[in-house]
Amino acid sequence: MKIFVDTAKIEEIRKVKEWGILDGVTTNPTLLSQTGKPWKEAALEILREIPDKPVSLEVIATDAEGMIKEARELAKMGPNVVIKIPFTTEGLKAIRVLTEEGIKTNVTLVFSPLQALVAGKLGATYVSPFLGRVDDIGYDGMLVTEEIVHIYEVYGIETEIIAASIRHVDHVRRCAHLGVDIATIPFKVIEQMLKHPLTDIGLSKFLEDAKKAGIQIL
Ligand code: E4P
Repeated sequence: MKIFVDTAKIEEIRKVKEWGILDGVTTNPTLLSQTGKPWKEAALEILREIPDKPVSLEVIATDAEGMIKEARELAKMGPNVVIKIPFTTEGLKAIRVLTEEGIKTNVTLVFSPLQALVAGKLGATYVSPFLGRVDDIGYDGMLVTEEIVHIYEVYGIETEIIAASIRHVDHVRRCAHLGVDIATIPFKVIEQMLKHPLTDIGLSKFLEDAKKAGIQIL
């Protein structure tokens, strides 16, 4: 499973990159607003930091024509730009045109398997089911994700599934178990994934015993 980081903060992206596990970045207007920088400066910084990995930037127009114009502008910012288009009927028209133009798309704000089926039929590059937000309204975000994985397998849809709106490590574990292509994960949850109390306890004991036994390697 590929790991994307769901953030626009350059320090967080750099850390995950240094750990060697970064496959891409997703942003949205909310995440860009949290950087405290002008949106374009923050976006360009990310694109330059990881020029060979996909970075999703979202349109803000709500009509198809506006979305297409914005997408073309955003796509000029770097070869690794992926355009996030919200799943609306106007968004669908934009996805069709952008796909024909060879511009990569990430269909966002997807909450049901049928929305994902439609995004796949249009040839979107990625589809992002927001599983945490589905949980928030009392439904099962993992079940939605599982059904999307199944539908895509049955119909041989090549659109990659990005599990989004991830809230905790168990969401990530279950996505990996399902064989989801990508999880876009908040930085804090990535840190939690890498930590285990038994690793810390085990390491302390090994170091203590190494000292007792006078083990010195260099
Ligand atoms: C996905 O691409 C979105 O940026 C993100 O996962 C939304 O998550 P939230 O529900 O925590 O805002």
